[in-house]
Amino acid sequence: MPELVPSNGHAAGHTAHADAYCLCDEDGREVARLPRLEATLGVGAVDVRHLLDDAKITTYDPSFSSTASCSSAITYVDGDAGVLLYRGIPIDALVEKSTFLEVAYLLLFGELPTANELDTFTNDITHHTMLHEQLASFYNGFRRDAHPMAVMLGVVGALSAFYPDSIDILDPAQRLISIERLIAKMPSIAAMAYKYSVGQPFVYPHNELDYPSNFMRMMFSVPAEEYRQSPVLAKAMNALLIVQADHEQNASTSTVRSVGSSRANPFACVAAGISSLWGPLHGGANEAVLAMLQRIGSTANLPDAIRRAKDKDDPFRLMGFGHRVYKSYDPRAKVMRRIYEELLEETRTQGDPLFELAKELERLALEDDYFVSRKLYPNVDFYSGLIMKALGIPLNMFTAIFAISRTAGWLSHWKEMIEDPDQRITRPRQLYIGPTQRPYVPLRARGDGASGSKLPAGLPMPSEKSIVGG
Ligand code: CMC
Repeated sequence: MPELVPSNGHAAGHTAHADAYCLCDEDGREVARLPRLEATLGVGAVDVRHLLDDAKITTYDPSFSSTASCSSAITYVDGDAGVLLYRGIPIDALVEKSTFLEVAYLLLFGELPTANELDTFTNDITHHTMLHEQLASFYNGFRRDAHPMAVMLGVVGALSAFYPDSIDILDPAQRLISIERLIAKMPSIAAMAYKYSVGQPFVYPHNELDYPSNFMRMMFSVPAEEYRQSPVLAKAMNALLIVQADHEQNASTSTVRSVGSSRANPFACVAAGISSLWGPLHGGANEAVLAMLQRIGSTANLPDAIRRAKDKDDPFRLMGFGHRVYKSYDPRAKVMRRIYEELLEETRTQGDPLFELAKELERLALEDDYFVSRKLYPNVDFYSGLIMKALGIPLNMFTAIFAISRTAGWLSHWKEMIEDPDQRITRPRQLYIGPTQRPYVPLRARGDGASGSKLPAGLPMPSEKSIVGG
């Protein structure tokens, strides 16, 4: 068996300071030299970029559990210690002291802005919040009961057709204007998706308001009455946006990078990110958590929910629990829980039954050996759904709000990738396990295939009702 050893000849892992590993064959002959790359924080990497050329072998890591897909200076996560830093700054400090647009600037450009820089950035974002009027008619093509994420990914994808003046990704000025347009327009797009679903008129953005307040106003105000802005709710929305803004190479960010690596325009990249985020194992989990808590209904049903989550024959999982990277309490969940408690206090809400249920579920799970031994702790989505509910956000808008916030992270990674001179198109290799080469068999010689058909017996025909959208 080939063996990976540090280049000084000791077995792998025995020497902390090796600057390269050698892949050796059974006779100890070096077949590839694999440089060791150091990280500024956390674990380093073995550079396998030339492995295939040198040793005629690939690495196998289908869900990237041990693969660094890129180098990045944006966000650092320590899953064991429960640490999350944006450009080196702890997430809780940002939630306490910063605003979403300041954090977006930090993620995009690497440093906190000066007062002038923040003014300019805020002004630029604020003046791009309106959508091309023609886009409003685009919404009319959707069914009223369409999920807002379906609408958002369609509308965001369509932005490239409305703003063709900013899709030359090799032009830094066009890149910047696309980034500003996307961050500015996401709240307007999401709010319009909501307004369309409830049959209310679209509300235009208001340039006097800050980013979270503007979004809340576009969601909740109606022309028939004066809208009263709540600073308490806007503060919670600001925290929510900051906490969800980036999380290094998660599924949707990796999707954005992968799509962007082909030099697709940023609107198409963000639409791809929205698609990935929508899944219930990723951003869709916040919606799933609340649905789960509502279904569980009362503490009396918690033991059964925990039993089902542990049963491998039951597809039910505790939504909002577990994480690929965090093997301790997700720091975002800690912040979310604190924000929620503050929100309850400030709005003088007492004894929210869903919060009591969530806390009890957390307590029971963290006492259960199944969750303890697998290091399954509450993740960001466990409490963020409760905050959104308290803000009056309907369930199907939860992931849309995650998308507004994560757009800052997606675009920071997209920008970093495009500006990296070593960037090439993403093109993983595979471990082929299909048939070896074989001849084509003509149709008449293949039999009737009645027994071994791979197709289902027949697809249901659409009913007249579903065709007309009833
Ligand atoms: N409930 C019950 N069992 C679980 C759960 C859960 N929520 N999560 C993981 N496990 C078990 C899993 O069955 C496996 O057990 P075993 O070793 O016996 O086979 C073990 O824990 C490891 O889980 P995994 O599925 O291999 O872990 P993963 O890293 O592939 O998946 C995850 C991570 C987040 C998809 C998963 O924990 C999960 O499905 N959680 C529920 C969905 C959720 O809350 N997602 C939000 C993630 S955070 C927000 C975001 O980044 O978007």
